[in-house]
Amino acid sequence: MSEQPSPGSRPLLPGQIASWLRLVCLIAAALIVTAYAYLAVRQAPDEDALRRKAQKDLRAENAKKAQALLTEPARNADGSYRIPVKDATALIAADNKVIAKIQAAAAPAPAPAPAAPAAAEAFVKASDDQMKRGAAVYARTCIACHQPTGMGLPPVFPPIANAPIVVGNPELPIKFILQGLMGPITVNGTTYNSMMPPVAGVTDADVADVLTYVRQSFGNQGNPVSADQVKAVRAATAGRTAMWTTAELGLK
Ligand code: HEC
Repeated sequence: MSEQPSPGSRPLLPGQIASWLRLVCLIAAALIVTAYAYLAVRQAPDEDALRRKAQKDLRAENAKKAQALLTEPARNADGSYRIPVKDATALIAADNKVIAKIQAAAAPAPAPAPAAPAAAEAFVKASDDQMKRGAAVYARTCIACHQPTGMGLPPVFPPIANAPIVVGNPELPIKFILQGLMGPITVNGTTYNSMMPPVAGVTDADVADVLTYVRQSFGNQGNPVSADQVKAVRAATAGRTAMWTTAELGLK
């Protein structure tokens, strides 16, 4: 059996070139399709990755800020920190888990909270309505610092859960809600020395409601506060612009 080149046709070369070309075209087309498909699929995860990275960077930055604020040089002899109010927002923004870690590394655990002393007068339960209004004011004006649990953020923001000042004479918290508070103060065994800015834009009823709410939440038992009580204190302290100091109010 011998191969017989067909007459008149040249050797197979042109046909080979043609099939080679077809193959090359096919491969090129396949490559282009694959590249397009890859780019199309790749687009979405890429944006996700960018978002994830931005979030991670933000978390890292907040953690860094918190770490920078809660340092040894910013500490008082009693273990509390001096944190300017303007920087407090960085701590609020930082992940609570990160803060807890920094604090755990820096400070010994605070002593367990003693129960608030029972009020001498008969306990009067606040109305559901006043509690509801108070909870709304709390969520608007106190929660960032004293936290949803009322446990604060030791050693920067003191707890108002099981805190004697909360259930004591309402005149004091009324004063510093209206005009602010600064100076060293020990709550449940931890000493704080930061600053509570005046709570702006609250009516007499708002202050009465929020104090009633905190006096009957978080394990506290204190009697309701009335808008008239707030009104009297507001009138008596009208014109005062300076923050109260804890010493001035007899708080230690
Ligand atoms: C910007 C943060 C911030 C906000 C908002 C804030 N507080 Fe405070 N609060 C503090 C700080 C800080 C102290 C301690 C001040 C010091 O060291 O002298 C404090 C102290 C207190 C105390 C006395 C200490 C204790 O724990 O018993 C009470 C009561 C209190 N705040 C209630 C409130 C209520 C009620 C509101 C809302 C109407 C409020 N605070 C809003 C930061 C804040």
